[in-house]
Amino acid sequence: MHNLLKGKRGIIFGALDENSIAWKVAEKAHAEGAVFTLTNAPVALRLGAIKKLADACKAETIGADVTSDEDIDKLLDQSMEVLGGKLDFILHSVGMSLNIRKGKAYTGLNYEFMKKTLDISAISLHRLLQACMKKDAINEWGSVVALTYIAAQRVFPDYNEMADAKALLESISRSFGYQYGTHKKVRVNTISQSPTKTTAGSGVKGFDAFFEYAASMSPLGNATADECAGYCVALFSDLTRKVTMQNLFHDGGFSTTGVSLPVMKKFMS
Ligand SMILES: NC(=O)c1ccc[n+]([C@@H]2O[C@H](COP(=O)([O-])OP(=O)(O)OC[C@H]3O[C@@H](n4cnc5c(N)ncnc54)[C@H](O)[C@@H]3O)[C@@H](O)[C@H]2O)c1
Repeated sequence: MHNLLKGKRGIIFGALDENSIAWKVAEKAHAEGAVFTLTNAPVALRLGAIKKLADACKAETIGADVTSDEDIDKLLDQSMEVLGGKLDFILHSVGMSLNIRKGKAYTGLNYEFMKKTLDISAISLHRLLQACMKKDAINEWGSVVALTYIAAQRVFPDYNEMADAKALLESISRSFGYQYGTHKKVRVNTISQSPTKTTAGSGVKGFDAFFEYAASMSPLGNATADECAGYCVALFSDLTRKVTMQNLFHDGGFSTTGVSLPVMKKFMS
């Protein structure tokens, strides 16, 4: 390890279990010398798995529902108190679709569910950044990273309403990145990650087949959660200070491949 995050303080959202991308980010950030708090929805904390991670990273766990202004305010105040100062990095690794959970097709959405999906998966980034700015909670050159998926740019039919949520998330990242950049030199970026076998990922219909398709379309293969954690750490570090307002593909080359030979071969007679 290289002490890339030595002396840095942060908050990591979204570690549910050992497969979660946020779980791997926490492990890597800890190994690189960062101190941070872990947060998740109160109901997710009750499942208990996060305690193991908190112990391993010597991190305090603070419950917060990302749709609650009050919870986010408390989370920021408590985190700065526990960590002994303002923040240098935040990972937003949160997503949930009620319509997907309830098996609704994109052409038959329940709009109350959809509002909840957008609130949890996208507007929460705005809520978080707005609260941080109001409290002046992030140090100059701090870095905020949110996780997204290429369905924001291209159609993947079974990704359903999450495609719309990710498009909004990426737009908020750019728009707030401008504001926070000019205000306090804080960076805001999204990482567009390969399909990854996690609870959220596997909830998407046909995920296993799609995972294999993406792997065969990507010259370097799918990026793993662990590799995504490495990219997050690089973006939290001082080595990427002028990277902001970007949607960064971390996908083994999938996003710029038209067709690959392994996929072509399946159609050759
Ligand atoms: N798994 C994939 O294939 C994939 C690909 C690209 C992007 N992503 C994105 O990565 C991020 C992390 O997902 P993951 O794949 O690690 O799955 P995950 O299920 O492990 O993580 C999703 C997290 O969101 C949390 N969450 C849901 N509702 C919440 C709320 N109201 N308040 C606070 N937290 C809440 C969950 O408790 C969970 O910890 C998501 O934004 C997801 O869309 C995932």
